[in-house]
Amino acid sequence: MGITTSHTPKNVVSFVLALQLVFLLMGSSSAQLSTSFYSKTCPKLLPIVRSGVQSAIAKETRMGASLLRLHFHDCFVNGCDGSILLDDTATFRGEQTAPPNNRSVRGFDVIKAIKSSVEKACPSVVSCADILTLTARDSVNILGGPTWEVKLGRRDSKTASFSAASSGVIPPPSSTLANLINRFSAKGLSTKDMVVLSGAHTIGLARCTSFKNRIYNESNIDASFAKLRQRSCPRSGGDDNLAPLDVATPKLFDNYYYKNLVNQKGLLHSDQVLHNGGSTDSLVEQYSKNDKIFDADFVTAMIKMGDIQPLTGSQGEIRKVCSKPN
Ligand code: HEM
Ligand SMILES: *[C@@H]1O[C@H](CO)[C@@H](O)[C@H](O)[C@H]1NC(C)=O
Ligand SMILES: *[C@@H]1O[C@H](CO)[C@@H](O)[C@H](O)[C@H]1NC(C)=O
Repeated sequence: MGITTSHTPKNVVSFVLALQLVFLLMGSSSAQLSTSFYSKTCPKLLPIVRSGVQSAIAKETRMGASLLRLHFHDCFVNGCDGSILLDDTATFRGEQTAPPNNRSVRGFDVIKAIKSSVEKACPSVVSCADILTLTARDSVNILGGPTWEVKLGRRDSKTASFSAASSGVIPPPSSTLANLINRFSAKGLSTKDMVVLSGAHTIGLARCTSFKNRIYNESNIDASFAKLRQRSCPRSGGDDNLAPLDVATPKLFDNYYYKNLVNQKGLLHSDQVLHNGGSTDSLVEQYSKNDKIFDADFVTAMIKMGDIQPLTGSQGEIRKVCSKPN
């Protein structure tokens, strides 16, 4: 029944219309993202992406972690718009050499290969930003984590920003708890979202330079764990030497990240601050004990992160090649 039938009092009609206007203006900017966005225009999209991620992970387990991180670093710099995938051009310097990314982000060849398979099936239809979002979900699931329905319909930026990516919007590993909370809050993500998304550090590797100060100078670290890490990360030099973020089960997406924090075996300073006598200790302890709650909250937070400032409608473009504007 329509809301404008003669039986509906006028003031109710205008109330409902006003309510709709409020929702429109609140502009949940993701209003146009939907899980069925490509179901008519690219019905094979999901299996194409999944098999691309599957074969990349079969070649190298770490790639699942790298793709997940790429999505995070894309979303935190001017929204989930595929900007991190753009190489430098004559008119702008891109994000890949910004400090949080330089010598550290990876997975571009995998995205390139998947994009070219997708282009073959449905040319100029699917954005690189959406492909990246899907690869993050598939990576988590293939490595043993939960799965969820991904909202789609993001479009690609025509530009990227070295300065935005360098500005601290992506927090450094030296961050205090307050800085982590602030940086996520600036993107509309709660403290709980921040703590649960940090659980992504259940997979993947970090460079010695990212944790050197922690393993030599900090006291809230398990002594044998510090010694173990010092073996491949010298006081001076070795900056690119790698170590797993999760000392217990580095190739599995599980809740051992939190068990490690409770045991003072967080690798990064920014990991251990989540369980160091502060306001987030109890949440860390809950996730360390309950993998189901971790999975459920992680999914909720990933969907929220994927909703950060997408380009929709006629904004941006559908790139033909992810590394350059059309
Ligand atoms: C809370 C703030 C965060 C900080 C300070 C942080 C910092 C870092 C650092 C320093 C590294 C190692 C980089 C290197 O040494 O090359 C790393 C790796 C990683 N981060 Fe984060 N991160 C944060 C949140 C996140 C989030 C929200 C995600 C995804 C949801 C994520 C996913 C990853 C993954 C999967 C890796 C391993 C990547 C690989 O092996 O290629 N991180 N992070
Ligand atoms: C990025 O890393 C290269 C070495 O690979 C270094 O020469 C350059 O200064 C770094 N750029 C920034 C902006 O830190
Ligand atoms: C330990 O801290 C001192 C004093 O802040 C600093 O000079 C030194 O570089 C740190 N050591 C490492 C390995 O980061």
